[in-house]
Amino acid sequence: MIKKGIILAGGTGTRLSPLTKAVNKQLLPLYDKPLIFYPLSILMLAGIKNILIIVNDGQEENFSNILGNGKRYGINIKYKIQKKPRGIAEAFILGKNFIKKDSVSLILGDNFFYGQSLTAKLLKSKNQNKGATIFLKSVNNPENFGVAVIKNSKISTIVEKPKKFISKQAITGLYFFDNEVIKIAKKIKPSKRNELEITDILKVYQKNKNLKYEEIGRGAIWSDAGKIEDLTNLSNFVHSIEKVQNIKIACIDEIALNQKWIDKKQLQSNIKYYGNCEYSQYLKNL
Ligand code: TTP
Repeated sequence: MIKKGIILAGGTGTRLSPLTKAVNKQLLPLYDKPLIFYPLSILMLAGIKNILIIVNDGQEENFSNILGNGKRYGINIKYKIQKKPRGIAEAFILGKNFIKKDSVSLILGDNFFYGQSLTAKLLKSKNQNKGATIFLKSVNNPENFGVAVIKNSKISTIVEKPKKFISKQAITGLYFFDNEVIKIAKKIKPSKRNELEITDILKVYQKNKNLKYEEIGRGAIWSDAGKIEDLTNLSNFVHSIEKVQNIKIACIDEIALNQKWIDKKQLQSNIKYYGNCEYSQYLKNL
């Protein structure tokens, strides 16, 4: 059972410059909330309450201003600095004292997931005790992602940004790992772009026949918010869904209340903290 989660929220955010010159990508707005609320909500929906947020040097205070130590949401949040963006796989080296002997989930701070069957898939996968699970989504531009080839319902090959077409199945930024991941992350070597690649970790699991996958079907959407167009498209998407359905996506206060991690009194106090805004109005109506 996975009880710990890491959100990787550093990076340079070059593609979003000049927006990211002063503000970290994960703190930029995706419609009505900071981007980090979305991956955080996914971990919370998976029932994960112990969370490590990896941030750039000098950024901890900014993240802490909004999320603090997590008490407001009935969860535990710790922070760790990544001095340089040395790759996604470094999360497990930086996070080893947080992970200790447990299994762990990793989600990228700029990843957006939304869809009905998603929570059920998360809950199923987080009960694994051995191996790793990745989440795949069929895309039209696989050359931009880590990609998995499926043969006989098993992952046969993993390639980072394949130049020649091999599969449409992109590896999304959500992963579940057993504790072996720390050892494996320490062993892998930096790639040509001088990063510790998550795909190199996945290849080890695949070789050991310990890599499972779940497909994110048509009923759900996944995107990263790496480019300005992604941010705009996703903001418009969230706006439409929230307006038409009269619900909020990634409302971490609502998720905490539904999980019974906070009570009405705490919710009142959160409303006071946010002040007079539309988000608070929604919380008042819960
Ligand atoms: P990327 O989108 O690959 O990188 P980036 O955020 O620096 O953006 P750009 O390519 O425009 O410069 O990163 C994916 C996510 O992982 C993002 O949320 C940032 C995070 N990340 C880290 O925190 N540390 C790292 O070393 C890397 C590579 C990424």
